[in-house]
Amino acid sequence: MITPIIDEDRYQTYPRSLGIYSNNHTSKASQHTARCCRYHRLLYLNTRDLKLARVKMADNSISGRLALVTGASGGIGAACARKLASSGSHLALTYSTSKDKIDTLVGELNESSKGLRISIHKVDMGSVEDITRMFQEIQDQHKAPVDILVSNAGYGKRIVDVSDIPLEEFEYTLNINLRASFLLVKGVVEGMKAQKFGRIIFVSSIAAYGGGINGCHYAASKGGLMAMMKNLSSRLVQYNISVNDVAPAMIEATGMIPNAAAVPGVVETIPIGRFGQPSEIANAVEMFATTGYCTGQSLIVAGGLK
Ligand SMILES: NC(=O)c1ccc[n+]([C@@H]2O[C@H](COP(=O)([O-])OP(=O)(O)OC[C@H]3O[C@@H](n4cnc5c(N)ncnc54)[C@H](OP(=O)(O)O)[C@@H]3O)[C@@H](O)[C@H]2O)c1
Repeated sequence: MITPIIDEDRYQTYPRSLGIYSNNHTSKASQHTARCCRYHRLLYLNTRDLKLARVKMADNSISGRLALVTGASGGIGAACARKLASSGSHLALTYSTSKDKIDTLVGELNESSKGLRISIHKVDMGSVEDITRMFQEIQDQHKAPVDILVSNAGYGKRIVDVSDIPLEEFEYTLNINLRASFLLVKGVVEGMKAQKFGRIIFVSSIAAYGGGINGCHYAASKGGLMAMMKNLSSRLVQYNISVNDVAPAMIEATGMIPNAAAVPGVVETIPIGRFGQPSEIANAVEMFATTGYCTGQSLIVAGGLK
């Protein structure tokens, strides 16, 4: 007798076609199926005691989920917000100084994505108090846990020579690019664990691999981010929380690279022969958000740069 396996919480009824049988295996075929099921660590149903089995199904829809995108007033963050809104995600968006840009973005999103809940939060990512307040505001306004964290807000003053990098600059860069992501993860992780769904995506940099046009302070902050991502991914996978990073380089229409004139001679060094677009980073972010099977990965999006 075939017994459907019923979920306790989010998991769905397991389809009969996948071969979950009772433990009454008489024929050779059902014995083979039993071995396969054991191999795949699927739980057995004893039809007599009707134990519930937890068989996880892929759940990659982000429509109706809540995404927190930091640095949404910037080039890449705004592109991520647009992309996630187009997939139906509600948004909590942060800015620090560019109020005009976040207002323009939200005006645009309210037009193009009617029905979504969009909140705006002014946060200095160097301030623990600001981050704590932001989570309270999100709770008050959305009354829902954050499902998707895109930790994108970042800072990098271009100082190439280590001798010229003041200690204060090193510490500030690590606070904004690395410590803030740690605090953001702490703010979202318990809610994600409780609901057994979460997507954490850091916006790192090719600097994490030793490349880029900035100094070691920026590289250290982004390298730390990648290491934190790898550690978190292995610790959180059991809760169906994926953790990945996107590592861009040379993305124009951003505060970092407003246009080609801001970085003369650089476009010639990019193998593909052009700058990247913020929307191309947003595509990669959306891929991680909608591909829960992928975790612990750092994806370079850099036109062939290494
Ligand atoms: N552009 C590139 O080629 C490139 C390459 C590699 C990595 N990245 C990374 O991509 C991410 C996004 O940068 P972007 O290129 O889109 O540059 P951007 O346009 O300058 O955006 C930076 C964003 O970070 C926010 N931010 C900066 N300092 C902050 C602080 N102390 N507290 C809170 N928010 C702060 C800014 O907010 P306000 O404007 O409101 O102050 C803005 O929203 C960064 O993590 C950056 O390191 C960019």
